[in-house]
Amino acid sequence: MSRIAYVNGQYLPHESAGIHIEDRGFQFSDGVYEVCEVRAGRLIDARLHLDRLDRSLRELRIAPPMARGALLVVLNETVRRNRVREGLVYLQVTRGIARRDHGFPAEGTPASVIVTARALNPTANEAKAAKGVKVISVPDNRWDRVDIKTVGLLPNVLAKQQAREAGAFEAWFIDADGHVTEGASTNAWILTADGALVTRPAETGILRGITRTVLMEVAAAEGLKVEERPFTIAEALRAREAFVTSASSVVLPVIAIDGQPIGNGHPGLVALKLRSRFHDFAEAGV
Ligand code: PDD
Repeated sequence: MSRIAYVNGQYLPHESAGIHIEDRGFQFSDGVYEVCEVRAGRLIDARLHLDRLDRSLRELRIAPPMARGALLVVLNETVRRNRVREGLVYLQVTRGIARRDHGFPAEGTPASVIVTARALNPTANEAKAAKGVKVISVPDNRWDRVDIKTVGLLPNVLAKQQAREAGAFEAWFIDADGHVTEGASTNAWILTADGALVTRPAETGILRGITRTVLMEVAAAEGLKVEERPFTIAEALRAREAFVTSASSVVLPVIAIDGQPIGNGHPGLVALKLRSRFHDFAEAGV
């Protein structure tokens, strides 16, 4: 089946969909994005993702390209036209097309909007979670506004590739104090020996993941204590469990960090429980 992409008001064949060479996203990474899970053909937690998109746009002073209702129509229509039941929808908004100049373009330059959707294989994802994933640690060399979900992802790209070449799924960034910030495309969690879930506070240094936010509710319902505080790789290596969260992976147990096993070296039962309960708490189809 041929794929369809939404680009600035048009639904186009994916293979020939393009953006102008002077789009500021292309030339300056001057744009933001969101990735939403699609489940049974419905967007998961779209409201929270669009709240975060609004915040990212505000922080970069990019005017919202369209009303939220219209954006939801485009997201849903892109999912529908691609017949995605289980998968992801990707939304990117940039500061638009203008002659290359670092300063902002003229007032009224329309933002560029791109939406794509693709199917994921749920069986393969479940198998991945059942097996667990490996993580490596790398120095956090990103700018200090990683709370904004910008398309400027070069450190994340290099870290992810380094992980891949080391036979791992994810790289955890380590800040100057030796604390784990987050993964290249996921938030990082541990379950301590005394049963507390620990994840870094989201005020600075990480992206406030939507999966992370919703998982706090799941944890509360499961009677788990959540501590929002920094942790080190040494503490993670002593932890009972570790896992990562994101819209594309939901909850994935981590079984090794830098080649050292976590817990018994198998996916943690708490992580798997949280994964299995996630969609009881996520909002479907807004
Ligand atoms: N990644 N941290 C980073 C750096 C991320 O890129 C992401 C999301 C997360 C988790 O956020 P959420 O739970 O809202 O997906 C944390 C997306 C999925 C991506 O880049 O593909």
